[in-house]
Amino acid sequence: MSGPTHIPDSVALPRLLGEVLVGSGRLTGDQIAAALAEQTRQTEPDLIGEILVRQGALTPAELMTALATRFGEERAHYATQPPPATAIRFEGVEKSLDGRKVLDRVDLEIPEGKITAIIGVSGGGKSVSLKHMIGLMAPDRGRVIVGDRELGRLSRKELLRVRERFSMLFQGSALFDSMNVFDNVAFPLREKTRLDPATIARLVRKTLGQVGLSGANDKFPDELSGGMMKRVALARALVTQPEIILLDEPTAGLDPIIENAIHHLICDTYLRTRYTMVIISHAIPHIFNWCHHVLVLHEGKILASGPAVVVMQSPDPVIQQFIHGSLTGPIKIV
Ligand SMILES: Nc1ncnc2c1ncn2[C@@H]1O[C@H](COP(=O)(O)OP(=O)(O)O)[C@@H](O)[C@H]1O
Ligand SMILES: [Mg+2]
Repeated sequence: MSGPTHIPDSVALPRLLGEVLVGSGRLTGDQIAAALAEQTRQTEPDLIGEILVRQGALTPAELMTALATRFGEERAHYATQPPPATAIRFEGVEKSLDGRKVLDRVDLEIPEGKITAIIGVSGGGKSVSLKHMIGLMAPDRGRVIVGDRELGRLSRKELLRVRERFSMLFQGSALFDSMNVFDNVAFPLREKTRLDPATIARLVRKTLGQVGLSGANDKFPDELSGGMMKRVALARALVTQPEIILLDEPTAGLDPIIENAIHHLICDTYLRTRYTMVIISHAIPHIFNWCHHVLVLHEGKILASGPAVVVMQSPDPVIQQFIHGSLTGPIKIV
């Protein structure tokens, strides 16, 4: 990345969600204490936020706002910290498809336990990169390393084992039209685990509750709105409790309010689980608020990589043109 960028010298440690809520005057210490008491009484504790909403101490919108504030503090803090461990690494990855070089000696690192956004103009190789991460495509040259395993050196069986650590939300949701919502979400558990039907049913209901779709079990995909379909796809990706979750354009085609709701939902999921997340997004500039780290992929190369708050201020004209959607600049409109 070119040019120096200002990072604040000291960003205070991000506060706990409870501290944000009390600090914003939305909640008293007593209300938090009551919610914590209820949480400890439960055998399978609900999230503190869900309990606060159920107790009437907060509206869902107030909870979402507090989450966004909390995450904003974390993003700013991330920019001042030494880089975390690497979950996924590309070394000199090259890939040609139909005689065109789609990835051109790509080096990249996905930080562990953080949210990374991959942005760039359409056709830049974002989806192809995601498919390399999970071993659905193999590079012509170079290495893809997940944790300490180089995918190209693994047997088929070992690769499948690495893949079990992932889940992926494909561009366009890819729900099964002939299955209802419950069966769509249960599918990976039935395929990949030996859990009994009662446990599967409990996990599916719980996950659908977390994405705000408790009553939708029996609906079929053609009865769902675009936002609901994305939520079902998200539930299906979350239900297996993966370590790494890859989301290919989880908000494409949604109106701005639903897009915002999905971003909050992803952020809420992250703060609960601390999964490594990789999100391909066209939601510029909003996505910068919903990730720690950004990679800009342009014409098969990594143009910038770093904390979201740093990349956003990059003086690079391609990045600025992309962020502002300008018609003039180094990116040529065909
Ligand atoms: N399976 C495939 N076979 C041939 N070409 C492909 C295939 N997948 C992607 N491509 C091409 O690779 C380029 C990058 O695609 P993609 O990664 O999907 O872009 P995006 O950044 O929009 O996600 C595009 O030109 C696309 O047409
Ligand atoms: Mg794509």
